[in-house]
Amino acid sequence: MSVVEKGKVCVTGAGGFVASWVVKLLLSKDYFVHGTVRQRNDDKYAHLNRHDKASENLKLFKADLLDYDSLVSAIHGCTGVFHVASPVPSTTVPNPEARFNYSIFSIFQLYFIALLTLLCHLEKKTLPFLSHIFSSTLCVCVFARARAQVEVLEPAVNGTLNVLKACLEAKVKRVVYVSSAAAVALNPGWPKDQVLDESCWSDKDYCKTTKNWYCLSKTLAESEALEFSRTTGLDVVTICPTIILGPILQSNVNASTLVLLKLLKEGSESMENKLRMIVDVRDVAEAILMAYEKPEAEGRYICATHIIKTKDLVDMLRSIYPHYNYPKNFTEVENETRLSSERLQKLGWRYRPLNETLIDSVESYRAAGL
Ligand SMILES: NC(=O)c1ccc[n+]([C@@H]2O[C@H](COP(=O)([O-])OP(=O)(O)OC[C@H]3O[C@@H](n4cnc5c(N)ncnc54)[C@H](OP(=O)(O)O)[C@@H]3O)[C@@H](O)[C@H]2O)c1
Repeated sequence: MSVVEKGKVCVTGAGGFVASWVVKLLLSKDYFVHGTVRQRNDDKYAHLNRHDKASENLKLFKADLLDYDSLVSAIHGCTGVFHVASPVPSTTVPNPEARFNYSIFSIFQLYFIALLTLLCHLEKKTLPFLSHIFSSTLCVCVFARARAQVEVLEPAVNGTLNVLKACLEAKVKRVVYVSSAAAVALNPGWPKDQVLDESCWSDKDYCKTTKNWYCLSKTLAESEALEFSRTTGLDVVTICPTIILGPILQSNVNASTLVLLKLLKEGSESMENKLRMIVDVRDVAEAILMAYEKPEAEGRYICATHIIKTKDLVDMLRSIYPHYNYPKNFTEVENETRLSSERLQKLGWRYRPLNETLIDSVESYRAAGL
């Protein structure tokens, strides 16, 4: 992208934790923002209209990542797109198997379930116990797999391709795709003593065997986004943040906020002393904007700042807020993966200290009554 154009830009999933901060930042810089949300009049998105300049410069569009036409309407007339929306599950999701032909596959699944239910009913008199166990186990597996396909992989991967196709059609100048460190760090082949940089990709087969479906969804989506850029010439830059904390603007609790809330409130008897890589949501929003505005930005950027063991994090929180119900004991684990944001810092990115992130996070949870 040769020049910074402060025209119309689109932010997908505008009401989410990260996107709300991206929208706020863009409005503060006088961009006119098209934000996509799934239910336009939902109270869930009321906070967006409270941003400064929202009444003049923010327009919300109802769009789903799997509804191409809805994305086309939101992206039409925009020079830039910030693709932030993606399912971020706060619990583990069941095993998906295939990525393609979902619709045909789903019809077979429904047919299979109907058949099983019928069999179960017919067999009740002769083999009641076995038929019930067999059919309900299969039903659970089939439903579980379908759920993960529908809820995580399909919107992340096909949804991203839909956004990119709509961008190409609308002649968008640059797309910033918010990927994740999850698309970088799950790679057992990477030398243990070497800091991870942008050349490292999570191993898709390893994601599958370790059942890390969120990591798989981000790895597939980001690699396909960059491949789309190579084949079509659409300018796509990706940002890969580690775990994002910081004050919440939205009313619901997103997955990464839940991680800190659990540390503060759950009082676990024992917790793994894992290495955490934390970045502030406001710094992520700045990185995303920088990736858009800097003409020289290209390819992937890891966005990671503070690397800290869980126990040290808890000690830091306890020194500021002594009265929460923190984990009681820690078990040591081997976990030395470290990521570098050197490339992003060379672009001019700076970040705030961890204690500022923690204090502002906790204060925002208190203000929200969490
Ligand atoms: N938080 C982190 O620690 C972290 C770290 C690295 C990367 N990321 C990435 O940052 C992005 C935002 O994450 P977040 O933490 O802000 O999560 P979030 O608060 O859960 O936001 C996710 C957003 O995606 C939208 N969305 C999900 N499925 C959709 C679909 N089918 N169609 C349209 N919109 C859909 C949601 O819309 P609704 O509001 O309608 O539900 C929501 O606005 C994601 O791409 C995530 O992978 C997050």
